[in-house]
Amino acid sequence: MAAKIIDGKRIAAAVREEIRTRAAALTERSGIVPGLAVVIVGENPASQVYVRNKKRACEEAGFYSVVIEMPGDTPQNALLDKIEELTEDPKIHGILVQLPLPPQIDERAVIAAIPPDKDVDAFHPENVGRMMLGEPRFLPCTPAGIMKMLELEGIPVEGKDCVVIGRSNIVGKPMAMLLMQANGTVTVCHSRTKNTEEIARRADILVCAVGRAGFLTADMVKEGAVVIDVGMNRNAEGKLCGDVDFEAVSQKASYITPVPGGVGVMTITMLLENTLRAAESHETVH
Ligand code: GUN
Repeated sequence: MAAKIIDGKRIAAAVREEIRTRAAALTERSGIVPGLAVVIVGENPASQVYVRNKKRACEEAGFYSVVIEMPGDTPQNALLDKIEELTEDPKIHGILVQLPLPPQIDERAVIAAIPPDKDVDAFHPENVGRMMLGEPRFLPCTPAGIMKMLELEGIPVEGKDCVVIGRSNIVGKPMAMLLMQANGTVTVCHSRTKNTEEIARRADILVCAVGRAGFLTADMVKEGAVVIDVGMNRNAEGKLCGDVDFEAVSQKASYITPVPGGVGVMTITMLLENTLRAAESHETVH
């Protein structure tokens, strides 16, 4: 049977409408306008697209947003100075430094320099630790967006066999943690896993975050599985596509997310949610 396509755009639109309403209420109550600063270093074309989309989403939600573009040869200290300036800016509640960074900059030093209460990516070690302990301040945007999709589609996680393919700090690791916290039984596969195909075939919920077009083929998917595609690749014709062989897998899965229009729009939605939460927390502090 053909899978139900999880419409990320529709779900994201509904969640963003709620965020917009909450933001307007916050502004009305306290004069606070949620503010996000996005810093991009260099001219990675994919990053430029993501940053543009983040800015547009902020504007649509009624947020204040600034994009800071720095040249590709920016020294690390200049980026750290910029982060300090944004840290002290009361209009800015969330700071996001777009990854990847050029080789002269140590990504870990940059992430550690963002104050945890403005770290709307939830990449700072303190926020990673809090999430791991089940006491999150912010949730990492992509995994949180996927959990929101599952919840709003009425797909239960409890007791399910969940397989995450990919172990990045941004997606794979936190995804596994959130699925486990939702009482799923989680297996993580990665480039050194010997029998990924076989493990994938056991999954009730299969999250693929590998970064290779056409990686997940239909023979790796159990009949009726829920398939979440985190890939953002360009195929030979330059078209945006995920990690999943959508045509074939959608004949076997019960639910599937498309690319574009799936996980990506939810990621940005959760970034708005985190920025709003950061702004809302200022209401009680001041
Ligand atoms: N690069 C790819 N995804 C992300 C993300 O979620 N946040 C940041 N800061 N950079 C990214």
